[in-house]
Amino acid sequence: MSGIADVGVIGLGTMGSMLSLNFAEKGSDVSLYNRTHEKAEKLRSDNSDLSARLHPQNSLEAFVASLRTPRVIVLMVNAGKPVDDQLEALAPLLDKGDIVIDAGNTDFNDTVVRNNRWDKTGIHFVGMGVSGGEQGARHGPSIMVGGDQKVWTRLKPLLEPISAKYDNSPCVAWLGPDGAGHFVKTIHNGIEYADMQMIAEIYSVMRDGLGLSANEMAAIFKDWNTRGLSSYLIEVSATVLAEPDPETGKPLVDVIVDEAGQKGTGRWSVIEAQKLGIGATTLEAAVSARSISSLRQERQASGNIYADIIVGESDFNNNAEGIEELEAALETAKIIAYAQGYAIMTAASKEYEWDLPLGEIARIWRAGCIIRSIFLQDITKVYEAGASVTNLLHAPSFSERVSSDQRSLRNVVAKAAKAGIPVPALSASLAYFDDYRRARGSANLIQGQRDFFGAHTFRRLDVEGTHHHQWPTI
Ligand code: 6PG
Repeated sequence: MSGIADVGVIGLGTMGSMLSLNFAEKGSDVSLYNRTHEKAEKLRSDNSDLSARLHPQNSLEAFVASLRTPRVIVLMVNAGKPVDDQLEALAPLLDKGDIVIDAGNTDFNDTVVRNNRWDKTGIHFVGMGVSGGEQGARHGPSIMVGGDQKVWTRLKPLLEPISAKYDNSPCVAWLGPDGAGHFVKTIHNGIEYADMQMIAEIYSVMRDGLGLSANEMAAIFKDWNTRGLSSYLIEVSATVLAEPDPETGKPLVDVIVDEAGQKGTGRWSVIEAQKLGIGATTLEAAVSARSISSLRQERQASGNIYADIIVGESDFNNNAEGIEELEAALETAKIIAYAQGYAIMTAASKEYEWDLPLGEIARIWRAGCIIRSIFLQDITKVYEAGASVTNLLHAPSFSERVSSDQRSLRNVVAKAAKAGIPVPALSASLAYFDDYRRARGSANLIQGQRDFFGAHTFRRLDVEGTHHHQWPTI
């Protein structure tokens, strides 16, 4: 028997609820199922304007029966076991051709396993990355779809209307088979971490190196948001910095504890980079910085142990030129961080034979997602130009910018080091850049060391083949 709803959503936490309302607003009839039925009823009663399209169901059986066949079911439950539990519960109720979408922040490795298992049953499983937080889910997220390409044809008319739009172009695309969608979402989050960390480092320089107030910094970020760095995260930063604390009247940011949380996806991005043999040093630095931030008491104890250390005078300049240098440094480091994120995706695309559409990924990240920015339009253009780019740092539009602004990044990192202000992600970007552009590196010594203690052999510049040397004993 075929039901009346176009799509069903299981899991009515914030993201599931917002996505359901978004579907309903764009004209889909949505069946709702949640472990606690009241939540589904409440979602409908709280949204009377959309209630005709919201259909709470009080059992999984009723939920499945309420869906038009072949069914489309969106899971918005916590990643991991809850996804498997829900799939197990659904399996006996579904028919061949039905589609189950995991729209949570799932480890793509799990998605690959689930795809393999479900493909055999004739029920389609789709791993789908959704970015944009609560507001994105409600009014237009960026959506990264994986799974079988044939299924995408069915999903497209349902997902395009709910996605964010950039110049009328829907920010949703099928990116590749099995885990491709969740993988790209993971890299999105790694880049998100890098962006956030680098902004926080510039904030740190402005606070500790220039002695600027939160409101002064808010004004600077607001200004930066009108040009090259224009992005959601810069806007968020400006807004957060300008917000007063209702309790004390101080800037709210000044009373927030300096320990950053993390749910894991940023960490996954660097784990996957390492597995693929890609150095994503800025992303790694950003993840590590969050971990170090959480050791607040240890940091305070270390501060006492090293209290006598005198750092140099701050060379940062609190004038227009000094602020411009910070802006150019952040923009340059951002290009380098994205080059790393793209390098991970390039390697994954090859390793997993996904043929990831790198330009398409930049295109659907231009609106809706947390890292949305005008910069993503620049990346989109690089790929639209049809060039096959080994690394974004090779694209002329970026190499020109990096060449002219690298000095600012270098100055900021050097001044920060002198003043004892940690800028791990900015430094990592600079080091990556200097390493990546160096024709003659230093790994020849490492190869010598490896051959010395482990006879691991080395290659010579002048003679083909692998060589082993009889090193003197020590
Ligand atoms: C998004 C975000 C989102 C993520 C939060 C929290 O694209 O909408 O990436 O999926 O869960 O930003 O992430 P952390 O808790 O790891 O900071």
